[in-house]
Amino acid sequence: MSLAITNIGSLVTNNPNLGSGILGELENAGVVIEDGKIVWVGSSRSAPASDQTIDAQGMGVIPGFVDSHAHMVFAGDRSKDFEARMNGEKYSAGGIKSTVAKTRAASDAELEANFLSLQNEMIRSGITTFESKSGYGLSVHDEARCLAIAAKHTSETTFLGAHVVPEDYAGRADDYIALVTGEMLQSCAPHAKWVDVFCDVGAFDVDQSRAILKSGIAKGLMPRIHANQLAQGGGVQLAVELDCASADHCTHLSAKDIEALAGSNTVATMLPGAEFSTRANYLDAKKLFAAGVTVALATDCNPGSSYTTSMGFCIAVAIRDMGFSPEQALWSATLGGAKALRRTDIGALSVGMSADFSILSAPSFRHLGYRPGVDQISQVLRSGKTIYKHQDGTK
Ligand code: NIG
Ligand code: FE
Repeated sequence: MSLAITNIGSLVTNNPNLGSGILGELENAGVVIEDGKIVWVGSSRSAPASDQTIDAQGMGVIPGFVDSHAHMVFAGDRSKDFEARMNGEKYSAGGIKSTVAKTRAASDAELEANFLSLQNEMIRSGITTFESKSGYGLSVHDEARCLAIAAKHTSETTFLGAHVVPEDYAGRADDYIALVTGEMLQSCAPHAKWVDVFCDVGAFDVDQSRAILKSGIAKGLMPRIHANQLAQGGGVQLAVELDCASADHCTHLSAKDIEALAGSNTVATMLPGAEFSTRANYLDAKKLFAAGVTVALATDCNPGSSYTTSMGFCIAVAIRDMGFSPEQALWSATLGGAKALRRTDIGALSVGMSADFSILSAPSFRHLGYRPGVDQISQVLRSGKTIYKHQDGTK
């Protein structure tokens, strides 16, 4: 069964050999899909005959967003903390503990229902692949069940037992690290692909983080890290030392950090929702691009620092406040995210790639930053199958 998408006003392929600029943009384009993969890309006029056709009517088509950083297993919200911050209070890692209490008290069914509701929001925002971390259980039992829930819905699961030291281990960080690297890792590894640590003020220091990531690596998990969100520290350097797939946040970077990232295989993942919702200063991503660092954009969806599932919002903020060009923002939210997950099958629309994409209700990707906050996702396909179609309820 083949499916053609024709009359695409602007197609982002993310393959510069296929079209113009870093996005490999093609106008008046078509694509053909078979068995969930792209089998042909070219001018709409010359699209080969297919079993089925979707006429994009001149609208834009973009690769599915790849959200490489989210925390989707939790209960409750922290809207009061957000309100306090908007009234001048500072964000601190300590707020995580209140979500831990609510998560521990929630049933598996409640956690999964919340997860699925966030997943639906993500899909409606054009996200076709997402990562999810644990990190709000912080006991052997709760971390394992949080990861088991995430693993039912995504292959990109991350063990974040080292989010903060929980209340029940207050003043006993070494004991908690022994638990994380021992019994907790043992129970969580079967449900996880990645290991992560919050290496920052109020969470774990560089030596603790190194030990935690190394224990995960020894167990077959691949490392990624929360680094340099709240202060400049050694987190980014550690990411490069351990060949982490990604160093996430990177809000406070030194020239040395940027140099280390540029010479590495580690992606710098920017999370504009976190700066927005904690009223932190935005990093100037121009410095990263100028140095040749590979950059990803992700939502960081979580109830504390960034309660958004909208990649369109992150793109708009990245363009407006972080020095991304519209092209760089779109690339970072698609192929950049794929690289942050070390995936080579998603993030671009060229022959052989998974047919994961969105048809916009706008003529091109440029409208994502240009019309902030407006839902412009008309239809979302994953592996060539429609997983969301916008229904216009206005009569
Ligand atoms: O990525 N920085 C650490 N973890 C989350 C926030 C967690 C929370 O505040 O609940 C983040 O921003
Ligand atoms: Fe995070």
